[in-house]
Amino acid sequence: MKKIAVLPGDGIGPEVIGSALTVLDAVTHDLEFLHGEIGLECHSRTGEYLPRETLDIIDESDAVLFGAITTPLGDPNYRSPILQLRKQLDLYANVRPLRKVHPSLGLVDLDAIIVRENTEGMYTQIERQDPEGVTLERRVSIRGSRRIVRFARELAEKNCRKRITCVHKSNALRRSDGLFREIFFEEMMGSNLEVKELLVDAAAAAMIDRYKEIDVIVTLNLYGDILSDEGSALTGGLGLSPSANMNAEFGLFEPVHGSAPDIAGRGVANPTAAILSGAMMLDFLEMSTEAETIRLAVHDAIDKGARTRDMKGDHSTQQFTDVVASLCHPV
Ligand code: NAI
Ligand code: MG
Repeated sequence: MKKIAVLPGDGIGPEVIGSALTVLDAVTHDLEFLHGEIGLECHSRTGEYLPRETLDIIDESDAVLFGAITTPLGDPNYRSPILQLRKQLDLYANVRPLRKVHPSLGLVDLDAIIVRENTEGMYTQIERQDPEGVTLERRVSIRGSRRIVRFARELAEKNCRKRITCVHKSNALRRSDGLFREIFFEEMMGSNLEVKELLVDAAAAAMIDRYKEIDVIVTLNLYGDILSDEGSALTGGLGLSPSANMNAEFGLFEPVHGSAPDIAGRGVANPTAAILSGAMMLDFLEMSTEAETIRLAVHDAIDKGARTRDMKGDHSTQQFTDVVASLCHPV
């Protein structure tokens, strides 16, 4: 029995995580769910964004399934609990597969995986204010770069991918991104993968006009964040894109989207991103057959016309979930 810390969070988080749990239940009875609180609503009830009890639940779990949280406006001392978790658990690899879940959705036939450094780069959250403005500490370390590049190489090789592209901006950020680039080429020596590089602005364009050349991307924190939202839009939208925050031992799985306050509580959110994040979690837990069952069920549900509003359909979150669950056959 694997233990899963379930952290639904704010806005549509609880709705889509509810769907993910329904679908996970349809493929396996080998998971035990431990529910924890996180985010803005938790803060307004308890005074904390990430309570000790939640950290304790995570401690005794094999993986985390996370929904989304709302960022408070106008709290200068706010530290994002999800950034805090990624850092504290040292989940240094952010993995975002980008492909259409159904041929009828999305704009281009991209089939990529973005592997993004998740603990340093632009997101150190170390900002210093002085009378003239604010200075941000942007960190690119040898250890941080080496381990993310190794992770990406292993992932690419394990998944039989053909090409790996380092995305950076070393023409402008010569020393920091230059270091990342140098380590990339060092670590790729002896690999059978086709080894490439692209500047981040060119990569943004290539994802649209040369998408067939994009396979596995390894990149720094901010670039990966932006490119993965672009990739998500190109392959069907935020409601469909899952992600993992990982290291070799542990993983936190979450939809790419946020708490979507504009549609929260209305039962119209697309739960696919959360459901597919659950499938990624099963892969990590070495339950790949069950994971594949979920992916097929999502494809088949859409194929049969089940679609939420963002997919130009009229299924509610619950109706869509029920169709997916009904197409999952326990293994
Ligand atoms: P968002 O991803 O929540 O929403 C962007 C747009 O996409 C909205 O129009 C929303 O309705 C739509 N959308 C998102 N997920 C959807 C789904 N599953 N089905 C259908 N439509 C969907 O991003 P936004 O609006 O910039 O941020 C809202 C809040 O979420 C903010 O407080 C932000 O800080 C937070 N956020 C949290 C994240 C996290 O918890 N990891 C990630 C991104 C944003
Ligand atoms: Mg983002």
